Parts: sequence; structure tokens; C-alpha cells
Amino acid sequence: MKQDTNYILEKVSLPKLPFSFKVLFTGYILSVGFGLLMAGVQIMMTHGMADGKVGLSVDDIVYSYYGNTKGTKLESKLNGSMKNNAPDAERLTLIKWARAGAPQDQWDSTIKPIVDKYCVMCHVPGAPMGDFSSYENLKAKAESDHGASFSSLTRVSHIHLFGIGFIFFFIGAIFTLAEGFSCFTKSVIVLTPFFFLILDILSWWLTKMSPAFAWLTIIGGLGYSLAATIMIFTSLWQMWITPLRRA
Ligand code: HEC
Repeated sequence: MKQDTNYILEKVSLPKLPFSFKVLFTGYILSVGFGLLMAGVQIMMTHGMADGKVGLSVDDIVYSYYGNTKGTKLESKLNGSMKNNAPDAERLTLIKWARAGAPQDQWDSTIKPIVDKYCVMCHVPGAPMGDFSSYENLKAKAESDHGASFSSLTRVSHIHLFGIGFIFFFIGAIFTLAEGFSCFTKSVIVLTPFFFLILDILSWWLTKMSPAFAWLTIIGGLGYSLAATIMIFTSLWQMWITPLRRA
């Protein structure tokens, strides 16, 4: 394949850059590189734990964006780790109440007595696993989880597009000065992060509508991480190692 050579690259390719430019580009690349790593750690700690297990999985993405409509926290706990804390009849009453949307008019007459008798000895005010002595607190556990809200998605979407677009503009601009790539290969690598960035953002919205799209989010993230890694390492290598080898 034909090398991406033109008069600009003959003069200012990465290995031939003036020292001060190399320092500037390296400073930028290193801080952005650490930024991307931190973003990865943050994703693992927030979305990664959404399904209660460490590590990012398709379920995490589904819970984060689509939500968990298979029932409320209260219902799943009453069928899970809280199962032995109340007799079946009372448990069923609580589950029905949760499914009905936790109506307040049943609280004093039916629900509060059950909760006081079977739950509040542990779920006292100040308890780290939740204080269920008041209607509001238990109602919060009886709401179904709708995932990310539209307003938070629009906010995070535009911040991501602007911010990450900016990052990849400069990473790409530095990488376009690399030697030894055909014009086609270089263009594909430079375009890849933008393509995956848009795919990633689009996948959040699609996942919000249907959990079937969750895997697109993972592919999007992997895609631009991979492209960033290639550009960052090639640029650093050509600025600092290639000139040494030629000397
Ligand atoms: C013996 C003490 C004890 C009793 C009694 C008890 N719980 Fe719990 N509950 C816990 C503990 C400990 C946790 C945290 C661990 C877990 O989620 O399994 C918890 C967690 C929960 C959660 C999840 C809270 C959250 O935000 O993650 C719900 C909902 C819940 N309990 C409901 C109930 C209900 C309803 C009852 C009464 C039928 C009840 N619990 C009785 C100890 C208790």
C-alpha cells in the first residue's frame, strides 16, 4: 500500500518533530491516557456493580440504562434474602402492596403493622440496610427501577460527545503525523474512535428502549479504547523510540 506521504509528513512526521512539540504532545497524551484509565475504573465501580457482581457485564448495562423491570427491590428481597423474616401470608401482602405501587392508604391499616412486627427490629431508624419505619422509606424500595432517566441520558450524551470528541480530535491529530501507515489505514484508525463514540452513545438510548442492545455499549467502549491505545502507543513510540533507533 502506498505510504501516507506528502510534503507535510516529509518535514514534520512524529520522529522529526521539534523537541518542544514532542514534550507538549507527550504531556497531553499521558494526561489523556490516565484520564481514560480512570474513566475505565469509574465505569467498573458504578455500572460494573449494577448487577451486584464485580466486573462489567451485559446485565450491568441493562440495569443501568433499561432498568430492572422484573420487579421491585422489595419484592425481590422478600423472595430472596428476606424470605425467612415473615410468614408467607404477610410476605404476600407486602408483595401485592409493592406491585400495586405502594399505595399510601394501605400503609396504616395493613402494611405498617406487618413491617413493625417482622421488619423494623432490624430496619430501625439509622440502620445501614434501610430504615423501614416510615412509609416514604419503604415506598422507595417498592418502586420499579426504570434505569437511566431521559434527562440524565441527554446530559451525559452531550457531555460525552463534546468531551470525548475533543480528546480524539487531538489524539488523532497527533497520530496523523505518524510515519509508515498507508493513507487508508491511518484514516481508518483516526475515524474509528469517532465511529465507536457515536455508536456507544446511540447504544445507551437503544438500551433504554430495549435490553437487547446492551452488548452494543460494550462493543462501542472496547472499540474506542482499542483505537486510542493504538494511537497513543504509536505516537509515543515514534516520538521517542524511533529517533533513537535511527541515530
Ligand atoms: C434479622 C434482621 C432483619 C429482618 C427481621 C429483616 N431484614 Fe431486611 N435486611 C436485613 C439485612 C442485614 C439486609 C441487608 C442484606 C441484604 O440485602 O440481604 C436487609 C435488606 C433488606 C432490603 C434491601 C435494602 C436495600 O436497599 O438494599 C429490603 C427491601 C428488606 N431488607 C426488606 C425487609 C422486609 C420487608 C422485612 C420484613 C418482612 C425485613 N427486611 C426484615 C436484615 C433484616
